Amino acid sequence: MPDVLFINGRFTDTSERVLGVEDRGFQFGDAVYEVFKFLGRTPIFLTEHYARLGEGLHELEIPNPWPDVNAFSATMRELLDRTEFDDGTVYIQVSRGEAERAHFWPEGMTPTAVAYSRRFKFPDAAKKERGIRVITAPDRRWCHCDLKSVNLLANSMAKKKAQRAGADEAILIHDATVSEGASSSFFAVIDGRIITHPLDERILPGVVRDHVIDLAIAAHIRVDERPLREAELFTLGEAFITSTTQGVMPVTEIDGRIIGNSRRGEVTAELQRRFDELERGAQ
Ligand code: PDD
Repeated sequence: MPDVLFINGRFTDTSERVLGVEDRGFQFGDAVYEVFKFLGRTPIFLTEHYARLGEGLHELEIPNPWPDVNAFSATMRELLDRTEFDDGTVYIQVSRGEAERAHFWPEGMTPTAVAYSRRFKFPDAAKKERGIRVITAPDRRWCHCDLKSVNLLANSMAKKKAQRAGADEAILIHDATVSEGASSSFFAVIDGRIITHPLDERILPGVVRDHVIDLAIAAHIRVDERPLREAELFTLGEAFITSTTQGVMPVTEIDGRIIGNSRRGEVTAELQRRFDELERGAQ
């Protein structure tokens, strides 16, 4: 069944072919995207997603189709009003637009903005307790991972490798340190402290990552924002990933090695509980 689709100021559905072959998002990966979650048709952390989208567009010098958060919120409100289900995700993509193929783009292009809602099976209580297995994989991405660009080939390759190994996520390794997951932020817990990569060009500033750090500080859990050495993966008490779709998700196995005692750890459980509460409150 097609889903409701917003494209450049009008609504249609995903059965309509809307993009030109010379859209730069398609040919050059010249686009940024966002994914937010909605529950009971209420967007979760919409302001944070709008802010990150705006920063990416600004960095790439693509005009923002939504001049402010209210305009963005109005479009998303209408999209959700037209959506036939209560819970899911919205995918938003803004490309530089369409022009005759050339690496130099012409000045004054009109961006292509699309957004559509999808049903999504968010992890249930059993999965949130059981956690996931991950593998490690080389971080082959470009050095501007702080931009949520649609250049996800290296991420997809790593993720496919994980799937073939019977795992859910690939943890990316750069210079013998852990950067993040292929589609998530990564956290280690050592001696009761959480460790996660600092915000720089190696990682995406995750919306959930940010909230989890604040929640940890509020819970008097010490947070070290520093690159985790690959060798430290052998010494972890606990580990978890965070993302819009997975929330706080325990990691119970890395490359076939058991983490902790193969169960969700205490720090992870506490942050998961606090994050779920925050998300419910955001509804
Ligand atoms: N992925 N790092 C990467 C590389 C990601 O792709 C994502 C999210 C995150 C977590 O960010 P956030 O907490 O803002 O969701 C970190 C989305 C969900 C996706 O590509 O579908």
